[in-house]
Amino acid sequence: MDTDLNRPSVDQADPIDTLPPTFRWGVATSSYQIEGAVAEDGRTPSIWDTFCRVPGAVANGDHGDVACDHYHRMPQDVALIADLGLDTYRFSVAWPRVQPGGRGPANAAGLAFYDRLVDELLDRGVDPWVTLYHWDLPQELEDAGGWPNRDTAYRFADYAELVFAGLGDRVRTWTTLNEPWCSAMLGYAYGDHAPGRRNLGDGIAAAHHLLLGHGLATQRLRAAAQAPIELGLTVNLATADPATDSAADRDAARAADGLGNRLYLDPVLRGSYPQDVIADLAAEGVEIPVRDGDLEVIATPIDVLGVNYYFGQLHSGVDEQGRERDADGKPVRRVVRRDLPRTAMDWEIVPESFTDLLVRLHRDYPGVPMVITENGAAFDDEADADGFVADDDRVSYLTEHLRAVARARQAGADIRGYFAWSLLDNFEWAYGYDKRFGIVRVDYDSQRRTPKRSALWYRDTVRRVRGQR
Ligand code: NOJ
Repeated sequence: MDTDLNRPSVDQADPIDTLPPTFRWGVATSSYQIEGAVAEDGRTPSIWDTFCRVPGAVANGDHGDVACDHYHRMPQDVALIADLGLDTYRFSVAWPRVQPGGRGPANAAGLAFYDRLVDELLDRGVDPWVTLYHWDLPQELEDAGGWPNRDTAYRFADYAELVFAGLGDRVRTWTTLNEPWCSAMLGYAYGDHAPGRRNLGDGIAAAHHLLLGHGLATQRLRAAAQAPIELGLTVNLATADPATDSAADRDAARAADGLGNRLYLDPVLRGSYPQDVIADLAAEGVEIPVRDGDLEVIATPIDVLGVNYYFGQLHSGVDEQGRERDADGKPVRRVVRRDLPRTAMDWEIVPESFTDLLVRLHRDYPGVPMVITENGAAFDDEADADGFVADDDRVSYLTEHLRAVARARQAGADIRGYFAWSLLDNFEWAYGYDKRFGIVRVDYDSQRRTPKRSALWYRDTVRRVRGQR
């Protein structure tokens, strides 16, 4: 007999229907992944333009030169969002468009694109949500040392102020950084993302300077704002559970959670770096380059924590032979594959972990409202002759994850909105265009957009929850 009384039975209401009418519903994109037009109106190269030219760095040698050609098709893309009935659009501003080279005055022609975008959104009744940094660092700043160089944090604060001066009269919600773990670790420690460096010390220095840049920009925007604004940053959080209850597995999960999650959450929301992560790094000969006063800046209060969630992982501290130390005498750190359904990214589909994560954030970092700034999935879509994709796998991924969000809210977590990643199929970084996350299909030959079944499901779900059936 089923004794789990908490589990909804078929005739119980869908938890999604408990989301409040004030809930924010949107889609997210980022500049380099969709815009194209990389040499227009004064834009200079970013680290991604450079990285895409490194042989073998990106699947199929793909790059963002044209991408979804959003730079030239923006009104049509805004119309898609409005037609889906969504209230908010989260997009990012390309630093090398607005401030070519990463220093000096604003480039009026580059800023004008975002000015038009914001106006177009407002005309269509869609609230603009700006992310200031979604990974496209001006190449000149990388040549000057990139994020491991402390000065980049100050350059970022200047740039943030320039964008705010141009758009702050109409944009209410601002995210400083998107997923600093990715910028720091994938970019500087593991080399999978631009600029492709492989040095743990560089990765950790980059992480600290990204967070410092976040804090500085938050202070500048707060000071410049003439009306109330909502400020925050977006972190990518993957749950890290131990494979077994053994001390070694629990320690491996602790370490993964520390380096991946708490290294970003703690300084911003508690004003300190986690001691256990400091110790793990020290064992690798790496120190976080903190100066006096940095943590106060980094912990400048935010109004909203953006959470990006895609998957969870199981961690083990023993290798397949049962050893706890590797050949260099270091603790074994290993991800254990579960027999679970996966997306085309090979990411495990674990919506329950999403609920756990959100409830834990509410418990461990109370008082800060959360918005799910990204959630979604790549699948091997197949379009019919009309370009339509019946992406039932994506519909079910999104449904289960929205239910997970609703359950976390029912358990008390303060979650104010949800953004599907992504509006469009787009340039999926090192995976190029093969991995499609869009709820709208893009045919890259014709640049035709066709809403997938998931887009129609999303439109209908939002309508239903708002009581507009
Ligand atoms: C997170 C990133 O913010 C976004 O750029 C990326 O495309 C998605 N995850 C999917 O990997």
